Amino acid sequence: DLPTRVRIHEVGARDGLQNEKATVPTEIKAEFIRRLADAGLTTIEATSFVHPKWVPQLADAEQLFPMVAGLPVALPVLVPNERGLDRALALGAGRVAVFASATESFAKANLNRTVNEALAMFEPVVSRAKAASVHVRGYLSMCFGDPWEGPVPIAQVVKVCRALTDMGCDELSLGDTIGVATPGHVVALLAALDEAGIPPATLAVHFHDTYGQALANTLAALQQGVTTIDASAGGLGGCPYAKSATGNLATEDLVWMLRGLGIDTGIDLGRLVATSTWMAAHLGRPSPSRTVRALSHE
Ligand code: HMG
Ligand code: MG
Repeated sequence: DLPTRVRIHEVGARDGLQNEKATVPTEIKAEFIRRLADAGLTTIEATSFVHPKWVPQLADAEQLFPMVAGLPVALPVLVPNERGLDRALALGAGRVAVFASATESFAKANLNRTVNEALAMFEPVVSRAKAASVHVRGYLSMCFGDPWEGPVPIAQVVKVCRALTDMGCDELSLGDTIGVATPGHVVALLAALDEAGIPPATLAVHFHDTYGQALANTLAALQQGVTTIDASAGGLGGCPYAKSATGNLATEDLVWMLRGLGIDTGIDLGRLVATSTWMAAHLGRPSPSRTVRALSHE
C-alpha cells in the first residue's frame, strides 16, 4: 500500500550548495529558498551552523537565515554541536538537525570524532533543543555503504538509530550518502528498524542518485510506510567529506513519480523546474535531473 500524502524535505540549499566548488552569493541562496517556497515546498533545509573552515560554502549562515526566516515554511538547519545550536537559537531557528554516522571512517572525516564521541556531542544539543521546543531531526549517514569500509552491516545502523531515538530525536533520516543502496537493502533495513521499535512512520529516507537507484529506493521505502522523503531541487548535491557522493534524488524526479502514483505533494512542478533551471544557469552547468531536462524549454 502506498501513502496518500508525502512530505518532501528539500535539501538543495544545504546538501546541494555545500558541495559546490564555487561559493554561491548569499542573495542567490536566499532567492533560491524563496523560489522553492513559492513552488510549494514546505520544509526547506536552509543552511548549516558548522565550522566555517569545514564547510566554507555555508559560512554565511548568519547572514542568510534572517533573509528567509519570515517565509511561511519550516526551515531546518544543521547543527553539529552546542556552538552550532547556540548560533541557530540566537536566530530563532525552530528546527535543527544533528548528523551522526553509522561508520567510524565517516564520523572521523565529517565530525573529527568517533561514532560514540559524536553521539556524546549531540546529547546536550538534543536535550537543549527539546527544552526550547525545537524540533530535532537526527541524520544518519552511510546507512548502506561507506567509501572506506564498504557495505555497512544492518545491525550497526540499527544500533546508532536506537541511540539517536533514545536521545530524543523527533525524526530520523536514513542517509545513503554515496548512493549505493538498492531496494532490497532498503526493505531489509526498514524491517530491522521496525523490529527494533523504530517504525517507518518516524523515518525519512535520504537517497543520493550516484548509481541511478534513488527513485527505485524511494518507491521501496514508500511501500514500507515511509512518508517523508528528502530530495534536492535539480538534483544538486553530494558531500564534501565523502568522495564519490553525487547529487541527491532530484525533487522534480520525485514529484513526477508521486504525481503519477496519485500521491499529493502540493508542489507546482513547472515553478520548481524553472527554479532549478535558473539555479543551473547560475552554477554554469545543466541540472542532472531527467525531469528538469524533459520539462525545461531553455
Ligand atoms: P573540530 O575541529 O573537532 O572542532 O570540528 P572543535 O570542537 O575542536 O572546535 C575547534 C574550534 O571550532 C573552536 O574554536 C570552536 O569554537 C569552533 P577555537 O576555540 O579554536 O577558536 N567551532 C565552531 N565554530 C562555529 N560553529 C560551530 C563550531 N563548532 C566548533 N558549530 C566540528 C568539529 C563538528 C565543528 C567540525 O567537524 C564540523 O563543523 N563538521 C561539519 C561537517 C559538515 O557540515 N558536513 C556536511 C554535513 S553532513 C552530510 O552532508 C550528510 C547528510 O546529507 C546525510 C547523508 O547524505 O548521509 C546530512
Ligand atoms: Mg546528503
